[in-house]
Amino acid sequence: MKLLQDVSSVRNFTQKQTAKQEIGLVPTMGALHRGHRALLEASLQNNDLTICSIYVNPTQFNNPDDLDKYPRTLEHDLKFLEEVGCDAVFCPPNQVMYPKKEQQLLQLSFGHLDKILEGQHRPGHFSGVGLVVSKLLNIVQPRRAYFGQKDLQQLAIIRQMVREFCISVEIMSVPIVREASGLALSSRNQRLSSEEKQVATQLYRTLLFAQQQYEIGIDLTTIKQQVLDRLSRDTGIRVEYFEVVRIDDFHLIEEADKSGAIAFCVAAYVGDVRLIDNIIVPPAKSTQQEH
Ligand code: PAF
Repeated sequence: MKLLQDVSSVRNFTQKQTAKQEIGLVPTMGALHRGHRALLEASLQNNDLTICSIYVNPTQFNNPDDLDKYPRTLEHDLKFLEEVGCDAVFCPPNQVMYPKKEQQLLQLSFGHLDKILEGQHRPGHFSGVGLVVSKLLNIVQPRRAYFGQKDLQQLAIIRQMVREFCISVEIMSVPIVREASGLALSSRNQRLSSEEKQVATQLYRTLLFAQQQYEIGIDLTTIKQQVLDRLSRDTGIRVEYFEVVRIDDFHLIEEADKSGAIAFCVAAYVGDVRLIDNIIVPPAKSTQQEH
């Protein structure tokens, strides 16, 4: 596996490939786990070459403490990528991604998409995500790029950005990978104690409960109240939001919409670790899960 650390070595590597060879990019912030493995395997299956990027992007952290505490496990990650069969890894230092530190950063705005859920609770987060993902796409110029459905709003933002900037890439989404307990895999789980991990499983159980209630026709206002009641009973969980969005346009909804897919989305603190999770509920008469 090639280790690439600056823009020109990525370009040399990609330009050596013939025009017919398709490149898949898996952007990550490292601390790789089975969720990343699913992204890498999807890329390895669909492309001639797979490049994984590992970069803890400072501009998407609105909380400096969160950035400091974000797990960094490069040695383990490189071994993990070798084992999966990844062709190259791009691990740029900060000065490669943000060479003019003193300059004002470009600010990206995504309309209603960055005003709700994660956007509302993490100001500037999606501008930073958009900035770094557009840089990575421009540097690697992949045919396809892979993102997990755990960050559902991020996926919607990236799709919008790629459309608006006419970036020639196919954005591929990969379903959430969960532990046997239901806990969605996340690099942040490394910071949970075993008791906190147990508490955190309540998030997915509550999403499943919300889905069941929705499917038997309970209205969304009642479901939201039931969910907040359930989660607030669980000491050790501090809910930041629980909302329902329409998948099509990622608008918040207050009333059932059985004609299209919807998603229940939650963000909560377990101890001092902020976790997000979601569940997509397909339209009533379809078994297709679109996203
Ligand atoms: O989902 C992530 O890990 C990050 O937000 C991403 C897409 C790698 C950008 O830093």
